Order: sequence, then C-alpha cells, then structure tokens
Amino acid sequence: MTTVSSERAGERSRDLAGFGPYERALAELAADDPRLIVVTAENRAAIRKLPGVLGDRFIDVGVAEQTMIGMAAGLALRGRRPIVHALAAFLTMRAYEFIRTDIGIGRLPVLLVGGVPGFLSDANGPTHQAIEDIALMRGIPGMKILCPADEADLIASLPALLADPSPCYIRYTAAPATWQHPLPGQPHRIETVADGDDVAILTFGLLVGEALDARARLAAEGVSARVLSVRMPKPLDEPAVLAAAADTRMLVTLEDHLQAGGLYSIVCELLVRAGVRADVMPIALAERWFRPALLPDVLAREGFTGAQIAGRILARLDIPRGGNRVARNAADPVIARSRSLWARARQLIPGGTQTLAKGPGQHVEGVAPMYLARGRGARVWDVDGNEYLDMTMAVGPLSLGYADPVVDEAIRAQLADGITFSLMHPLEVEVAELIRDAVPGAERVRFSKTGADATSAAIRVARAFTDRERVACCGYHGWHDWYIATTDRGAGIPATTRELVSTFDYNDLDSVRAAVDVDTACVILEPTVVQPPDPGFLDGVRRICDEHGALLVFDEMWTGFRLALGGAQQAFGVRADLACYSKAIANGMPLSVLAGRADVMQKLERDVFFYTTFGGEALSLAAAAATIPELRRREVPQTLAARGRTLRDGYAQICRELGIAWTRCAGMDARTLVVFDASAVDPLLARSYVQQELIRRGVLWSGFHNLSWAHRDSDLAYLLGCYREILPALAGHITAGTLASALRGRPVEPVFRRIGNPERRPTRAP
Ligand SMILES: Cc1ncc(COP(=O)(O)O)c(C=O)c1O
Repeated sequence: MTTVSSERAGERSRDLAGFGPYERALAELAADDPRLIVVTAENRAAIRKLPGVLGDRFIDVGVAEQTMIGMAAGLALRGRRPIVHALAAFLTMRAYEFIRTDIGIGRLPVLLVGGVPGFLSDANGPTHQAIEDIALMRGIPGMKILCPADEADLIASLPALLADPSPCYIRYTAAPATWQHPLPGQPHRIETVADGDDVAILTFGLLVGEALDARARLAAEGVSARVLSVRMPKPLDEPAVLAAAADTRMLVTLEDHLQAGGLYSIVCELLVRAGVRADVMPIALAERWFRPALLPDVLAREGFTGAQIAGRILARLDIPRGGNRVARNAADPVIARSRSLWARARQLIPGGTQTLAKGPGQHVEGVAPMYLARGRGARVWDVDGNEYLDMTMAVGPLSLGYADPVVDEAIRAQLADGITFSLMHPLEVEVAELIRDAVPGAERVRFSKTGADATSAAIRVARAFTDRERVACCGYHGWHDWYIATTDRGAGIPATTRELVSTFDYNDLDSVRAAVDVDTACVILEPTVVQPPDPGFLDGVRRICDEHGALLVFDEMWTGFRLALGGAQQAFGVRADLACYSKAIANGMPLSVLAGRADVMQKLERDVFFYTTFGGEALSLAAAAATIPELRRREVPQTLAARGRTLRDGYAQICRELGIAWTRCAGMDARTLVVFDASAVDPLLARSYVQQELIRRGVLWSGFHNLSWAHRDSDLAYLLGCYREILPALAGHITAGTLASALRGRPVEPVFRRIGNPERRPTRAP
C-alpha cells in the first residue's frame, strides 16, 4: 500500500512540475477527492495549468459568471464539490441569490474564489465589486468569507473549507508567506500575528504585512500594538475580538474595503450585540473607490503603508511628543514648563499642591516633572510632552487605568444629561445596590467625595452609636482633626480633640489593647498596608472591640475593590461594623463610600448630619456604575494580585542575585512598596536616587507600585529591568558614601511623623 501511494505521489509531483503553489494544492486535492471540480470564468491567471491535469473536471465557462454559478449549483446538486473562480463579486452574489430564491437551494457547497479583491484589483481598476466584496458576499445566508493573509494561509485553509458543506467566498491572494502561521489549517480562528496591549489592529490579506510594519513604528513611539489576522470575517472568531477589546485601549480595523459593510461593520456589530464599549478606529475606504495603479502606489496614495497607518493611529491616540520616552534616555527630561508653572504656584498656592503625595516634596526637585497633562492606560505625559510609565497612578484611584474607554464613555453619556441636579439622581440608588451586592456587610450605603469625608463620617457615626468619644487609630486616614492630631502637623487642632485619639501599632494586639478602653467609640485601621495581617491579628482586633463595646471600622481606601471586589472583609473574612471606600471605585472620579451595619448606619437617618452639595454628583456615580462591573468582568483584583506578585518576586530575585539585603518590596500584592533598611542607608536618599534614575528611564515612581489593570506584563518586565540596572549603582554609592552627591536635585522629604504620646493612652478597663 505504502509503496503504491508513494509511487502515485511521485508521479503526481512529476505531473505538477512548474505549477504554482495554489494550482498544485488544487490539483492534489482533486486527485484525492473525485467530487472536486474547478470552474472558472475570466479568472484563469492562477490556474492556467490545471486543465492539463484535471481534464473534464476543469470547466471554463468564458465570461458568463452568472451561468457559471448556475452550473456550479447543478454540479453541487449532483454531489460534486465545485471550486469556482470568479472576478465579480456583485454578479456572483446576484447569481447566488437567484439560485437561492428562484430555485430554492439554500446552501450550495461551493467555494467561490474572488480573483482580484481590494487593492489587488489594480489591473481591472477598483470597481465596487473588488472593494465591496465582503459586504456583498456576507449578505448571502450561510456564506463564509475567508481572507487569507498569504498563499500558504490560503492553501492550508482549503481542506477545512472543503470538509464543510457551507459555501465560502475566498479573497484570493498569491502573496508569499512572510511569517510562520501559528494556527495553520484553522481558518475559523483569528491568528495573533504579534502581541501587544495598547491597540489591536484587526486586519486581513495583504494588509497584515503593513500592520506589522505599523506595529514596529508604533513600538518606537512607545505604543504596543497587537496584530490580528482576521482570516474569517464571517463567521467571526468573536472571543478573539472581544478579548482584544478588553485587553487594549483601542481597536483598529484595517481593510482594503469600503468602510461600510466590511470588517469595521462586522466588528462594530459584534460589540453592540455583546454590549461591549470599545474605541474602534476604522482605516478603510470611505465611500469612494481608489484610482488604479500598482500596489505600492495605491497603498501610499490611499494612506495604507505601515508608516501611514502608524501615523494615523498615533494621531488618533493624540499622544503629545516630548523628549523623554519610556526607555533609557540619555539625559534627564526637560521640565521647563513644569518649572515655570511651579514658580507661579509658589506665589499663590500655599504648600503648592492639593495632594501632598503629588507635590515636589515627594519628588526629586529639579529632576522630576511636576505637572502632568494627560494619561492613557498606565502612561502619562507631562506638560513638557515627556512620557512616563506611571507607577503612582494618581495615588490610587485609577484601578482600570487612565482614559479607560468604558468608564469614560459612561462619564460622557452622563455629561450629556447633566452633572449635578436639584433633586436626587437614580444613580445614587443604582450604585448603592452595586456596592451592597459586592461588599460583605454593606447593609446601608452613603456617598460623599473624599476618603476623609467617609472616615470622618464613620467616626461621627461610631461616636453617636456608642455614645462615646475616644478613637483608636493606626495608619493614615485623612486630613481631618481627629487623625492629623496624632501627627506632628496638627497645628490648629483643639487640644481637646487630640486628647480623644490614641494610636496603636499594626500587627501588635498588645498595643491595640492598650489603646482601647470602655470609652472608646471605635477602632479604625487599614486592614493591611505594608505588612500582611499576622494570623489572628484582625480577628483579635475584632475581639478586643467586642469586649470593650467599641465598633470596628475598616479604612478600605486602598484595599476596597482592589484586594477583592468586596475588599479586605472578603479577602480576610473579618467583618467590620463600618467600612470606608474611595479611590478604586470610580477610576479617577471623586467618590467615597461609607457602608456598614444597618443599625449603626441608622444614626444617619437623623441624629448624625452628613450631607454635602456634591454628594450625589452624577458623573462620579456614572463612573462607579461603569467601573464596578468592569472590575468584576476583567477580574481586576485577581489580575492586580498576579502582576503584583510578579513584581515582588522579580524584585526579590534581583536583590538575591546582587546580594543586597537592605531593600525589599513589601505590601499587599496589588500595591507594593519598595522599602529601604534605615540601618544601612538613609531611606529618603535611597528613594530619591531610585526615583531620579527611573525618571531618566521614563518611569514615574515614588516608592509604590500602585498597580492598575492597564499595567501590562511588559511594563513590569521593563520596570524590573530598570531596577536591575539601578540597584547595583545604588549599592555602589552606599559603599562609597557618595549617595547624597549622586542626587541631581533636592531629595524627597518625609510626609509627617506620628506623635507617640503614652500620656494619651486610655485607662478605663471594661
Ligand atoms: C488609607 C487612607 N485613608 C484615608 C485617606 C484619605 O482620603 P482622601 O485623600 O480622599 O481624603 C487616604 C488617602 O490617601 C488613605 O490612603
């Protein structure tokens, strides 16, 4: 058997000498399948040699395309499998329609090979048949459409198409393959030709090559592009398109087709049907034909070369140009505009900044940019046009990333209707319900604007509910009196307020016991910050509160909607009486939440006054209504945790390899912090040095890794690569005692110190 078939194969390959790859593929398929018939009308260039081997299984019907389709119908009804080569999609479609409607044959098993589609129709001139072919053919019920990227792709797809009884329209291409196909022979699957996560370019046919060229040019501009070869616009590989919409900031449909009815329409139809909001940029022919010419000239004239495509995408992304890039820059960025704004601010704005963490005190003055103009994903651009990978992410609120299309669209939609109203807005109810469904123990929900609003309200409610005044706290909770009184920046706060607050240390139950007595209204703490809770710590705090009749308040500004959708209460399984949220909940819009036990929150019905003009402001609520489902759908807490672990492990690995023990990456996965051991190095100087070196590499950093969904694995790999360069240099300066002189600007300053005053400890036991 083997000998006979290999002899046959030998004969066959002698017969097919001089055949082109496509012709050879058809001849071989026909040799294996006697049902296969090749038909043509006026489209013979690619199959001139076939009549010699196929004999009466090759039919040339001259110019009559409609007749040809009719003939193919008849052959198909007699059990044959016709592969029909046509030029004119319009005539073919009409013929097919006649057969379908007049003769009543629904699904002819015919493969229709369109000869010169799209820009390849240069020889014939761009009739609408060539650049409207997908729109025409996809209207035929049951018709599949294959747009192979090259000849290898076409040939590899034929067996699967022939095994399928549905008809299929094939956009013929004879271009040689220039890359390895990851999914050969699976035409129904979209091929990821190159990966990327800023934009996804969906394209097909000869334009895949141009898209790859555009990708390389975009990469030089710091934009990472995924290139997807959509081999079958119908039926579409929907999961691959939806994944691209979820993973990237913008979809680009690139096609040598009219904008209407082709890939752009197909993708938009899917997004609307799936209820997915995405930014889609069409690159297609808009309501006009192109003038015929040779392909390179057509591409250039119509704006479809790789360089032009990249330019069009960059213009749409609207990325300002400056000197600094997310790359190893030769010098510090030029920050002239930042400096001039800062000079004006110093004359007018006390402290210079509205958010301490964003001010110059937390950035190396003279080196770091001071004012940002815009952001996208995890990238920001300063007022001088310099680009940075942002590891601070607005100090927490950007859980999804800058300019998230879903959230921004929700904000825009709400903006069209209004911002703040004279009566309540339905979103107040809707977002409260979303929070109730996501957060354990959120039996009642109230909104405000800032984190400090929510923690202040929590303390007031706790005091009202317990009829006590003392508060025990541990970390940072906002700018209001009762907390700032525990720091060295508490000027202006009445002494009586200071007397009511005691502090304790995280993970130290003895210190909690010492800070709480029967006059304590509540214990407020962040469930985790730099350290994870020791086993039993949070339960222990809960128990101490219960023993003393105090309430437990979780400040979940950082943990809420980040550690888990239900925050620390869900992640650690410990129930607080009240919990405060902000930051991650509205992807950058100002919204905070107080949620908790119904009986405690009941105090807000009348006794406790907690109202503010902007409490029900609708843009922020619309942002939250869009953000919360997206956090769930994109599995943001899980994603941040995984990426955070990558960073933590990567940092630890670098330190191990370098033999460095004086720094580590600490904190919950979604938000880690680089800490320096004060016994080995001045932590402020070390932080300043790392910051200045990262700025030169295009990374904005102030010690934290405030991860958002928009941070990509490639960003983290880049950051780890930077640490790998910077830490040995830092070690060298520590050893040589030259760290202070290695700084090119003023080092960062401490924020404030906690005042530990044992005299303020409460004394009354239960
Ligand atoms: C844990 C924690 N609580 C409260 C606040 C205060 O929030 P806001 O600055 O929005 O008033 C912050 C701010 O960073 C915080 O980190």
